[in-house]
Amino acid sequence: MVGRRPGREELERALRDGVRAGRLRPGTLLPSSRALAAQLGVSRGVVVEAYAQLVAEGWLAARQGAGTTVAAPAAGPGTRPRGSGLSPPGPEPEPGTGPAGPPAVRYDLRTGRPDLSAFPRRAWARALAAAVRGVPDAALDYGDPRGAPALRAALAGHLGRARAVVADPGRVVVCSGTAGGLGLVWPALREQGVRRVGVEDPGWREQAASVRRAGLEAVPVPVDALGLDVAALAPAGVDAVVVTPAHQFPTGVVLAAERRVALLAWARRTGGVIVEDDYDAEFRYDREPVGALQGLAPDHVVYAGSASKTLAPALRLGWLVLPSRLDEPVAARAARGTAVFDQLALAELIQRGDLDRHLRRMRRSYRGRRDTLVAALGSRATVTGVAAGLHLVAQTGDAAALAARARARGIAVQTLHEDCTTSRPQPPALLLGYARESEPALRRAAGLLLA
Ligand SMILES: Cc1ncc(COP(=O)(O)O)c(C=O)c1O
Repeated sequence: MVGRRPGREELERALRDGVRAGRLRPGTLLPSSRALAAQLGVSRGVVVEAYAQLVAEGWLAARQGAGTTVAAPAAGPGTRPRGSGLSPPGPEPEPGTGPAGPPAVRYDLRTGRPDLSAFPRRAWARALAAAVRGVPDAALDYGDPRGAPALRAALAGHLGRARAVVADPGRVVVCSGTAGGLGLVWPALREQGVRRVGVEDPGWREQAASVRRAGLEAVPVPVDALGLDVAALAPAGVDAVVVTPAHQFPTGVVLAAERRVALLAWARRTGGVIVEDDYDAEFRYDREPVGALQGLAPDHVVYAGSASKTLAPALRLGWLVLPSRLDEPVAARAARGTAVFDQLALAELIQRGDLDRHLRRMRRSYRGRRDTLVAALGSRATVTGVAAGLHLVAQTGDAAALAARARARGIAVQTLHEDCTTSRPQPPALLLGYARESEPALRRAAGLLLA
């Protein structure tokens, strides 16, 4: 595919590799984009984009007038490199319908709902059939509590390629969605002395709830325009923190490069554990997805992923990639909670390239829907958090009234106040999911919403 001249992804991979392996030491000044482009025989844009991506991920640092250098606290004891992007998109959606008590749901604009009508049924059926036919008798036994070895190997490769995660299949644990994964992690951390866990404020309710269920204290840590306020971690006295760095839920903010670096520095300094909830990072529309934080410091980060947004929540398929200190304690709690056939089907889907194809299709489709909704909202709301994910944030003074009226008109919507963990006043805002409805349906829904 590529001869002598590297493409942007290869260049990114080579640079990440160099940093991980210690060939590129912190502080090393990289060649100017012009010089490196000339040396490699590629266009300057390739180098500029690769540098920008790696700055966003925290591998490199760019200072005005001082060029691009290798960022200070890069790389854990990592091994493999890799990293690049994924994509998604899809077919036609059906207007949401549903029984529901009061007004029937005509348009489903709730957050985080993927387009279920685009579930790759044929590919899944093929993969499932192959799994049922091919599975050896022995694999039908109780088996490894970490999950089916074939899936853990497929996930390790996929996450390495798509999310720049450093994943040894031996450190991958299959779980029942992100929620199930968090339910394994907190008790293991508690056993190791963790008492206070930072949760994003505003944030996903399940994060704080699962922390509390494990008998730990959930401590709100503010999120601002650059993502989690890392400077607030030390004063909050937390031993661990759960974050959504690639696409903060619900604000949609991407954790800024300097915050990523500061967060890793906090973990190294204090021994604190970072739990990275990478729930919908595959869906990024303006550029490549920002690589996972875990790839920079695999010994300090628990990586949590899920098929809920990429395929369907009902699969209840998720995975953890664990640092060494948590590997055994989490595996000991893993309850073999996912049927082996589903695990093997997902492994097939990954290996046949069907998952990547599905993600590329869905990314195209969701981008179109996002653009349609943004255009339909026009200047009626301040729209943010649109670069990635399956929803946007529409700030408008009358959010509560709009939401109530929308629901009465059969439009299912959520608001920042009602549907997220918040401990401080937040600007009134609607959270509008655009993944589930077709473009014409989104136009109609926005019209009704604002009428
Ligand atoms: C922040 C966040 N993480 C993870 C998930 C996915 O959870 P699960 O994998 O348990 O379905 C969601 C779904 O809404 C979410 O909002």
